[in-house]
Amino acid sequence: MKIFVDTASVKEIRDAQSWGILDGVTTNPTLLAGEGQDPRRVVDQICAIVSGPVNVEVTTLAADEMVKEGAEAASWAPNIVVKLPMIKEGLKAVKVLSDRGVRTNVTLCFSVPQALLAAKAGAAYVSPFLGRLDDIGHDGMEVVRQAVEIYRTYGYTTQVLAASIRHPRHIVEAARAGAHVATAPFAVIEQLFKHPLTDIGLDRFMDDWRKLQKALEAAQARV
Ligand code: G3P
Repeated sequence: MKIFVDTASVKEIRDAQSWGILDGVTTNPTLLAGEGQDPRRVVDQICAIVSGPVNVEVTTLAADEMVKEGAEAASWAPNIVVKLPMIKEGLKAVKVLSDRGVRTNVTLCFSVPQALLAAKAGAAYVSPFLGRLDDIGHDGMEVVRQAVEIYRTYGYTTQVLAASIRHPRHIVEAARAGAHVATAPFAVIEQLFKHPLTDIGLDRFMDDWRKLQKALEAAQARV
């Protein structure tokens, strides 16, 4: 399963990229707005760091405007994926853009029927929002499971991108459900590395090694 970082922070993306496990980036209007800078400038900086897919969302609501905006964003760099909302106008634009060879990601997907429609429109990715479904007492992962199952049955090439991830368990469950990608906030990816027994074990290895070095130095001094 690929791991994308869900952020527009260039600093976070640079850090995550340095860890050697990053496959791509997802942004959205909220995340880009949070940076308080010209979005094009931020996206250019991100594309200079990451060679995998960099997702940029359209901010218009009519299909023809989305196509125009999406085609423009796709021209910024070869690895741009255009995110479009899961509404009729969004899917119309997905069809036009994917027919033109632009990779698209249908975002704000909250149900299996929506995931089916995204695949039929030719989306390269569909993004079920797990956390936001869990927040209202639904089982977000079930949308991932069933979308993966349906895409396999019918040979759809659309990749299921588990989004709105809140904690490491979501990432593990998304992998078990067969999601092609999980996109998670920087802090959640950082949590994946951590286990207290790793830290305790490493401290002990380092400590024992230091003791050996000291003992060897003392023995050498006695010769
Ligand atoms: O980028 C889309 C998605 O991952 C948003 O997550 O945390 O705002 O529900 P969140």
